[in-house]
Amino acid sequence: MRVGVDYYPEHWEESRWQIDARLMREAGISVVRLAEFSWCKMEPEEGKYDFGWLDRALEVLYKEGIQAVLGTPTATPPAWLHQRYDIYPRDARRYPLGFGTRLQRCLNHPVMRRYSRLITEAMVSHYANHPAVIGWQTDNEFEANLCYCDVCADLFRQWLQRKYGSLEALNKAWGTVFWSQEYSSWSQIPLPWVARCGQSHNPSLWLDYRRFASESTVSFQREQVEIIRRLAPHHFITHNFMGLHDSMDYFALAEDLDFVSWDNYPKGNWEEAGHAALAHDVMRGIKGKNFWVMEEQSGITGWEHVGRRPAPGQIRAWAWQAVAHGADAVVFFRWRSCLYGTEQYWHGILNHDGVPRRRYREVSRFGEEMNRLSAELDGTTPNHQVAILNSYEQNWALQIQPQVNGLRWWDQVRRYYHSFRRLGAGVDIVSIETDLKRYRLIAVPSWYILTERDTHRLTDYVREGGILILSPRTGVKDERNVCRTEPLPSLLREAAGVEVDDYDPLGDAQNRIRLSTGEEFTVSVWADALLLKGAEEVAVYTHSIFAGEPAIARHRYGKGVVYTFGTYGEPALYNTLLGRILDEARVERLAGIPADVDACWREKDGTRILFLINLSGEERAVPVPSEVTPLLGAPPQQGAVNLPPYEVGIYRVR
Ligand code: GAL
Repeated sequence: MRVGVDYYPEHWEESRWQIDARLMREAGISVVRLAEFSWCKMEPEEGKYDFGWLDRALEVLYKEGIQAVLGTPTATPPAWLHQRYDIYPRDARRYPLGFGTRLQRCLNHPVMRRYSRLITEAMVSHYANHPAVIGWQTDNEFEANLCYCDVCADLFRQWLQRKYGSLEALNKAWGTVFWSQEYSSWSQIPLPWVARCGQSHNPSLWLDYRRFASESTVSFQREQVEIIRRLAPHHFITHNFMGLHDSMDYFALAEDLDFVSWDNYPKGNWEEAGHAALAHDVMRGIKGKNFWVMEEQSGITGWEHVGRRPAPGQIRAWAWQAVAHGADAVVFFRWRSCLYGTEQYWHGILNHDGVPRRRYREVSRFGEEMNRLSAELDGTTPNHQVAILNSYEQNWALQIQPQVNGLRWWDQVRRYYHSFRRLGAGVDIVSIETDLKRYRLIAVPSWYILTERDTHRLTDYVREGGILILSPRTGVKDERNVCRTEPLPSLLREAAGVEVDDYDPLGDAQNRIRLSTGEEFTVSVWADALLLKGAEEVAVYTHSIFAGEPAIARHRYGKGVVYTFGTYGEPALYNTLLGRILDEARVERLAGIPADVDACWREKDGTRILFLINLSGEERAVPVPSEVTPLLGAPPQQGAVNLPPYEVGIYRVR
């Protein structure tokens, strides 16, 4: 377990470094991330490397017992490189993103690739055996290389050639007969450039382009990873992901890394337990293991416009919330608010004046606690019986054709997630390629693109006793992003025991459904009229064109059960029905947790650690199992603990 900070020694006079390092140590900080934006300092002229300043900074830090994660600086190539070569990415109107901000590089450009390898080799050769350096962060907050330059157009065509083999096969796969789009030469194939009249591109071309753009970033990173593995095999490699960001396939990006890190700036309503919790769980699910927070909010954020100051205690509560969800290190962004540049108002632990004040004391408190509990927490990890499947391809396919409001990927994930958490169940958010049998219950948002392989994985899971929840718009397309001809949910209809007889894209319009147990709920977004083919009815529509027809069905299949939701309901529907399904699946739950308290387990060898984080500005009474040993916070009285605003309780349960 570690506490850290993102530090930019290059922004400050060297005479200040010693003071910073001492203050860091006194705050319990033992790791810094450095250098990810300092290419112009490390290579001020082409081929002339200068690591002297970084050596001196590392020495100062190391003397205070602080180690470092170094970032490869490829998110901000230096001006001299851009002056010599045009490596600017093009947007969908083919307009270049010029110099002066960041990410102004096409990750496919051979020149960018070459200079990325060169600076990475120079850095890693220099620091492979430095005692202060423990690992690497590749680049900074990678996104899919959604670039529309000529290099990308050529590479995309080559990628398609490898994928389809012949133009005939590509024309057939994409259905280019529509609107007379058959290609007779690879060079005719466009990128999905913005069309003047706002017309959309072929959804099959779009999806392949999204796959290609994502793979481009993965392969860019891989070149850096290979260099680091070769020259510094004893160092770890990570990258700072962005929570619910979805331009690229995070599962693929993480494959080459040792663990995931991510940048946590809580969004939405800060007092809702949901948002950061969901993002932490998504991040843990990417590799199915604990992670780091590489940038944790430590103050007021914003560039030209700024947000509110976190309330006293809120920064510490967020940091513990990260740990509760599986973070093994919390690295705060940033040490001190910068005096210049775009991020002058993105505040650090220290203000511009560099004087340790309230936020420093709050971080120090967290640092002391985390270091004290380190031995207890080391090796513990969340372990859940419920999963929601995550897929970037499904997400992209729904971005390409959103169809109606509310069908968006994360909206669907949120519906299930918030309800499971409200009902006291911990949730993993995982790829369909993980070992599904670990879970008693799996909810699947629209599995819009359904392959034979995915069908087998899901049906095997149910046959062997799992409970599966399917959503509307399952099995609509095949992997080419072409509509399937089987009745929906296409390849899953036998397991689901239903067929979609008709559908009504409700969008913001509403209908009502009634459960067989009598309760009624409002539904919206989408309405499938289900034909029962072996399944039993769980809910019917009560109004409009499908009145009296099944909306939700339950089907025994093998040793398991498939629930088909033909529509999306208000939260109360999920809180009612998912509660029953959790019971049917015999999922263990923490009952009676207030909505703005985040309650989580980490466990190891039969020992469980319970985290209770009050994210609200008011005191909350939280039930606690009997026989607990308090590790942090007050001991429970009569089976409950009163958590003051933004307070944290950590308990060992044997
Ligand atoms: C992050 C980024 C940092 C910094 C921070 C504040 O997304 O990784 O470099 O820019 O936001 O804007």
